[in-house]
Amino acid sequence: MTRLFNFSAGPATLPESVLLQAQAEMLDWNGVGASIVEISHRSADFIAVAAQAEADLRSLIGIPDDYAVLFLSGGATTQQALLALNFAAPGQAVDYVVTGHWGKTAIKQVSPYVHVHIAANGEPGGFHDIPARDSWTLTPDAAYVHITANETIHGVEFRDAPVVGDVPLFADFSSSIASEPVDVSKYGVIYAGAQKNLGPVGVAVVIIRRDLLERSGQPRADIFDYRSHAARDSMLNTPPTWNWYLAGLVFKWMLAEGGVDEFARRNATKSRLVYEAIDSSGGFYRNDVVPQARSRMNIPYFLPDETLTARFVAESKAAGLLALKGHKAVGGLRASLYNALPVQAAQALVDFMRDFQQRNG
Ligand SMILES: Cc1ncc(COP(=O)(O)O)c(C=O)c1O
Repeated sequence: MTRLFNFSAGPATLPESVLLQAQAEMLDWNGVGASIVEISHRSADFIAVAAQAEADLRSLIGIPDDYAVLFLSGGATTQQALLALNFAAPGQAVDYVVTGHWGKTAIKQVSPYVHVHIAANGEPGGFHDIPARDSWTLTPDAAYVHITANETIHGVEFRDAPVVGDVPLFADFSSSIASEPVDVSKYGVIYAGAQKNLGPVGVAVVIIRRDLLERSGQPRADIFDYRSHAARDSMLNTPPTWNWYLAGLVFKWMLAEGGVDEFARRNATKSRLVYEAIDSSGGFYRNDVVPQARSRMNIPYFLPDETLTARFVAESKAAGLLALKGHKAVGGLRASLYNALPVQAAQALVDFMRDFQQRNG
């Protein structure tokens, strides 16, 4: 068996011990005589797994009691649309701060339902920075302000929650959740697809300040209603049981490894290694994001030309480094350094980058 160091942006690398445990439990989970994906989500066995996962996520991230935690199918994109349906009245203004591709996607999802106001936009600057907070034009009676905490494609990350006054702050944390401590109380809603830092694709986590669930929002089907999901512990319909179980194993692993503080240390080390290799390459490698907005999770970087880029992707894979090709929207290379990627992987990447430069620079 060969498992390579996997720099995929998502679905992404998972802890090997979690995969081995899932493999060992696949045919007969906990002595019930069936796998966890073959039993009812309404069985006491699965309800215990689900509740434990929620409890572990709460202690991992530090989620206060006045926040509901939902485990839902539909990915992060579905949640982007549901934000408007649940929390904004028809035609009400919502403020979006766009710092990359996923901020634009978030706007696309809510545009049919609400009046989108772009409070700040990093696109004219090529998404190389986060627009200065004092340049944002916020709407006083907006339903919420939306940011993308970490832009997975453009590699731009907020260092802290921006102060936006009384309007609740909603944040897409898909690619940085649980990667460093976060003060949840600064947010009205935090949402994330699991497939980067939390587990497998197929489940999204939505953390909602409970008072917001009382908002009337827009006319919507029950299945699009966060309040209904919260009232039924995310079991309004059949939840993604396998994904929820596997995410629960990842939460346990993260807690055993030392929790979010420990991952923040590892992630700082990994990203420092890669950025140092880029910045000390004399321009052979290039990352265009200003240092104070650089993502610790996703590092897009570029070589002088396409031929070298293709060679880098092929040779790095042969050297045991998987999925370093950049996203098609920006090209180049990208290293994603999520929690489950070990520090040795970042070191191996940096060693390869230096060797590649010596041979091709
Ligand atoms: C920051 C961010 N938001 C949203 C999404 C979309 O997630 P999903 O594919 O789960 O809908 C992604 C996917 O990569 C992402 O990185």
